[in-house]
Amino acid sequence: MPGVICVGGPWGDEGKVKIVDLLAESAEMVVRSQGGNNAGHTVVTGGREFRFNLIPAGILHPRTTCVIGNGVVLDPRVLLDEIEALVAAGADLANLVVSERAHMIMPYHPVLDRYEEEARGDDRLGTTFRGVGPAYSDKVRRIGFRVGDLGKLRFLEKKLAFVLPLKNAVLERLHGAPPFTVEAILEEFTGYAARLARYIRDPFPLVQGALARGERIILEGAQGTMLDLDLGTYPYVTSSYPSAGGALAGAGIGPRHVETTLGVLKAYTTRVGYGPFPTELEDGLGARLREVGREYGTTTGRPRRVGWFDAAVARYGVQVNGIDAIALTKLDVLDGVDPVRIGIGYRSKGVAQAHPMANISHMKHCETVYEDLPGWSAPTADVRRYAELPAPARGYVERIEDLVGAPVTHVSVGPDREQTIVRAAGR
Ligand code: GDP
Ligand code: IMO
Ligand code: MG
Repeated sequence: MPGVICVGGPWGDEGKVKIVDLLAESAEMVVRSQGGNNAGHTVVTGGREFRFNLIPAGILHPRTTCVIGNGVVLDPRVLLDEIEALVAAGADLANLVVSERAHMIMPYHPVLDRYEEEARGDDRLGTTFRGVGPAYSDKVRRIGFRVGDLGKLRFLEKKLAFVLPLKNAVLERLHGAPPFTVEAILEEFTGYAARLARYIRDPFPLVQGALARGERIILEGAQGTMLDLDLGTYPYVTSSYPSAGGALAGAGIGPRHVETTLGVLKAYTTRVGYGPFPTELEDGLGARLREVGREYGTTTGRPRRVGWFDAAVARYGVQVNGIDAIALTKLDVLDGVDPVRIGIGYRSKGVAQAHPMANISHMKHCETVYEDLPGWSAPTADVRRYAELPAPARGYVERIEDLVGAPVTHVSVGPDREQTIVRAAGR
């Protein structure tokens, strides 16, 4: 069973891709299975910083095949920019494969994303404006354009002649915006077709071949469980399925190939965009953690909202994803915070709740129940062995294990690949 699913914790940006980069050293393949260029990841290795939106972090390992899977929606212009930046940084992209089944974010999608957000007024979601929601909506409506369509420009033109009037009607009549033309889009996408052709193919034989040979495949997560369209804080979610089930569907891999589902959780919590956040810190400590943790979005640069670790949300994530091991990241950011708090559940309308509620209004207005633990003052960034962490830091990690119901196998204490403690089995 060669598959490892790397799934994000609550609301994304836990450092999933730092962990994927680390694991990719011993993997033959990394598949990014869902989401789009709403995701943003930073990986630091040997003092160099790499930024990704779409390309799996495995690309930094020359022997690893990197697949952008069928569950992804991608903006071809953003993908080309990312390819160019990686080539300029010296990365080898010979092993990049883009599934012909992945959907494309078309030029009207980011425009519609903006108008839809504006129309929501006070109830806006805080999307990344990358057109991800509108692109997934069109996929479900079966009026989406797939990457494979770039190889069939006549077909693309015919389909545009059907789809564009639908889009232009909304843009012009509802929003008073200028229409798109078939000619302009066709010209733009003809250019993309030429530049992306070498990467586009059906990864099915590659993935199945790797599975048959028992090779290690990592499914690279994007976003997080509470942003999942079904399992998250709907409607304050993204339009895809960041949970483990979504990872499998988006990569075309069955559950029997999964050896480990690794949940990546941050030692505290962040959220970008609007929506309930029961452990949010809106005081000076929140601001301090934002600065120390450099909590500003990789994609949009927006300050991330910051709060305490939410064990109720994390335990829910462990359960709905079937997580059997946890990578706990950014523990170093809590150095010097005393006490450290953990949200352990909620009270909603006077009733105790042990897990996040489906009712979004109850989630927004619940009271959070906390547990305080002693903090630690010694810096952890240079620690490489679990036993050398300050005792209260170990106490914190172990309390999280007890509360969420899964062992912490990796502790990350800094952005660099090297700044990771791999724990032996047991404590
Ligand atoms: P992702 O979207 O889950 O891959 O995470 P992001 O890359 O968006 O955000 C994580 C940020 O934290 C990045 O800037 C990482 O370089 C950084 N990071 C990752 N792990 C650690 C850690 O253990 N400590 C610190 N201080 N930073 C980390
Ligand atoms: P990574 O992979 C954090 C959030 C947006 C917004 C909501 C909907 O880097 O962890 P969308 O543009 O997807 O329609 O926006 O989802 N969001 C993320 N937040 N990390 C991400 O990805 C995110 N991708 C989407 O901020 O609240
Ligand atoms: Mg991110």
